[in-house]
Amino acid sequence: MRSIIDILDLSTTELSELIATAQDIIAHPETYSEACKGKKLATLFFEPSTRTRLSFEAAMYELGGNVLSVTGAGTSSAAKGESVADTAKTVSCYADIIAMRHPKEGAALVAANNASIPVINAGDGGHCHPTQTLADLLTIYREKGSFDNLTVGLCGDLKFGRTVHSLINALSRYHNIRFVLISPEELKLPSYVKNETLKKYGLPYVQSTDLEEYLPQLDILYMTRVQRERFFNEEDYLRLKDCYILTPDKLKKAKSDLCVMHPLPRVNEISVAIDNDPRACYFKQVLNGKYMRMALILKLLKEAQA
Ligand code: NCD
Repeated sequence: MRSIIDILDLSTTELSELIATAQDIIAHPETYSEACKGKKLATLFFEPSTRTRLSFEAAMYELGGNVLSVTGAGTSSAAKGESVADTAKTVSCYADIIAMRHPKEGAALVAANNASIPVINAGDGGHCHPTQTLADLLTIYREKGSFDNLTVGLCGDLKFGRTVHSLINALSRYHNIRFVLISPEELKLPSYVKNETLKKYGLPYVQSTDLEEYLPQLDILYMTRVQRERFFNEEDYLRLKDCYILTPDKLKKAKSDLCVMHPLPRVNEISVAIDNDPRACYFKQVLNGKYMRMALILKLLKEAQA
């Protein structure tokens, strides 16, 4: 049974196909309105979420399917001590596909190994978040027309930011990509991402604590929130939380076709005064996420039936 735990579970050919499907859905939504009729998506969210869960659910409804939902560990049998493996086996009896978010790294993989239906990782702790990357990729594709020849700045919490890890993995397979990794010392990209992706494939990157120095060079700026829930103490969080704030003044130094991205939720990382700047792409990411999740659900259910 095919599950999507990591963005690298999808080949670049498959990513192109998903993008093509998403664009076809955007152009002809009516063609897809009954594509998943009679099918059920279970959303199992053991961590807070607005966009990811609602976009999965909206995606399934727009495909004509139905949704079963668990939100918050406190309201399900996880609170009674049920394992992820048993939950996955149980939900396989009710649904056709699972989207799962969990605070523990590797939880989605455990679910996939125990479910008899496809599992989509909707975020596992500070590890990865492949469907946010699908949203990011469609956004970059629609803004830039390709994934090649880009200087991509990632700024903020690169240590715990799972969206950053998945996006780096995804982009590492395209041509002439250069990364600028901007973070405080304490929140640098984990060495496993550096070693298994950047160094392994010889991808050029620089690490800096200075956003303003590199801003003029960037084609993409991916801002991220400091991940409070993954900190061991509140003092460190309070010290680091406002380390980077993108303001209209700083943006004056950026390219006119810069694409400013953020997986959201935003806390203070991007001034609201930037929301109407044509370079602000973060609400486009939200909408693109729904279309890419529609394309992914369609693909996995079709494969499961074959
Ligand atoms: C991200 C996440 O959950 O990792 N949010 C999202 O799914 N769009 C980013 C974050 O919470 O900061």
